[in-house]
Amino acid sequence: MTVDLLNEPVRIDVHAGSQVAPIWIGDGISERIGAILDEHAVGARRLIVSNPVVWRLHGERIVRALGAVEPILVPDGERYKNLQSVSKIYEALIRAGADRGSVIVAVGGGVLGDTAGFAAATFLRGIPVVQVPTTLLAQVDSAIGGKVGVNHALGKNLIGAFHQPAAVLIDPALLTTLPRREFRSGLYEVVKYGVIASPDLFERLLRQTKSIFAKDPAVIVPAIVESCRIKADVVSKDERESGLRRILNYGHTVGHAIESVTKYRRFRHGEAIAYGMLAAADLAVARGALADVHRQAIAKLIGQLGPLPPILDLTIPEILEVVRRDKKVVNGKLHFVIPIQIGATVTIDDVTEDELTAVLRRMGLKQ
Ligand SMILES: NC(=O)c1ccc[n+]([C@@H]2O[C@H](COP(=O)([O-])OP(=O)(O)OC[C@H]3O[C@@H](n4cnc5c(N)ncnc54)[C@H](O)[C@@H]3O)[C@@H](O)[C@H]2O)c1
Ligand SMILES: [Zn+2]
Repeated sequence: MTVDLLNEPVRIDVHAGSQVAPIWIGDGISERIGAILDEHAVGARRLIVSNPVVWRLHGERIVRALGAVEPILVPDGERYKNLQSVSKIYEALIRAGADRGSVIVAVGGGVLGDTAGFAAATFLRGIPVVQVPTTLLAQVDSAIGGKVGVNHALGKNLIGAFHQPAAVLIDPALLTTLPRREFRSGLYEVVKYGVIASPDLFERLLRQTKSIFAKDPAVIVPAIVESCRIKADVVSKDERESGLRRILNYGHTVGHAIESVTKYRRFRHGEAIAYGMLAAADLAVARGALADVHRQAIAKLIGQLGPLPPILDLTIPEILEVVRRDKKVVNGKLHFVIPIQIGATVTIDDVTEDELTAVLRRMGLKQ
């Protein structure tokens, strides 16, 4: 990659119907949010939504970039990704006299972006949102694609909407304060992009793990750019997830089940997906669809990115039960995205429970 990437922001467009949702990526770009939004005429009145953790770390620079603004703060954490937080945002918007000419600037990780994005999608039947993602997971995944929403007491992400952001501004410099485990959680999604679409990205992750953990912009910025390109490309071709967008679910069938049976407490999202990617690769080898050397490479990279929480106490029946309830099951057969080489996948829809049981047994889970 050229050094230019570090100086000039890169623009990537998500095309959704007649709309274009631009993504700008650049080291230090958060210092220029105001100028970029001015230049592209995004929202006359900007209302920031953030959480206390992110605001304490980065609020000052955001205020500098946008001018003096009081943020609307919602509590931090997945358990606050709910309608109560959305309601708090509505209330602050109404009190501030927000109207159709206002724009919400969401500054935070995936939880904050999903919550503030949902408030924007529904307030006054929809006002624009600008996403300023501050975790790696949000920068490469959740802030892109227009899916917003919150959890319900009876299940995760059950309430939501499609609401493409007016812009996504990605500043890798914000990641310097991110705890290592959160950073790793995002890296597993980057691995996913490598496996589904880019052998080159995959190779670089393998070779440059050290520079990645040092958060060297020369390595991190291109990895984020490439991940965003892949997601933007897939979403542009299939915004509402009728087909192609499903490839982004590689690792997510078993991953979601692992998160769910452990009540979203033991695993960060990316960690569960890492196990899910290993499971799907193993399934692919068992079917003769993937050469074992590729499965080994995936396992090597995942191993290299750090320890994963243990899964050996989980049981096969509890995982199967969740997978069965998951939306990826149609007529009793399981849907799976499996790699056929590094950089290419296929979706299969005839996986039997016996096959999945064998995979989980090989991963060490108990019957
Ligand atoms: N909309 C989508 O398409 C989509 C896709 C994937 C995941 N998601 C959602 O994203 C959520 C997970 O997002 P996440 O992994 O970003 O978790 P998160 O938003 O909970 O952030 C993790 C923690 O890091 C803190 N943090 C954020 N930025 C920081 C920074 N720069 N420095 C220090 N700390 C920082 C947060 O306040 C939080 O405590 C889930 O709710 C998931 O459902 C949505
Ligand atoms: Zn994911």
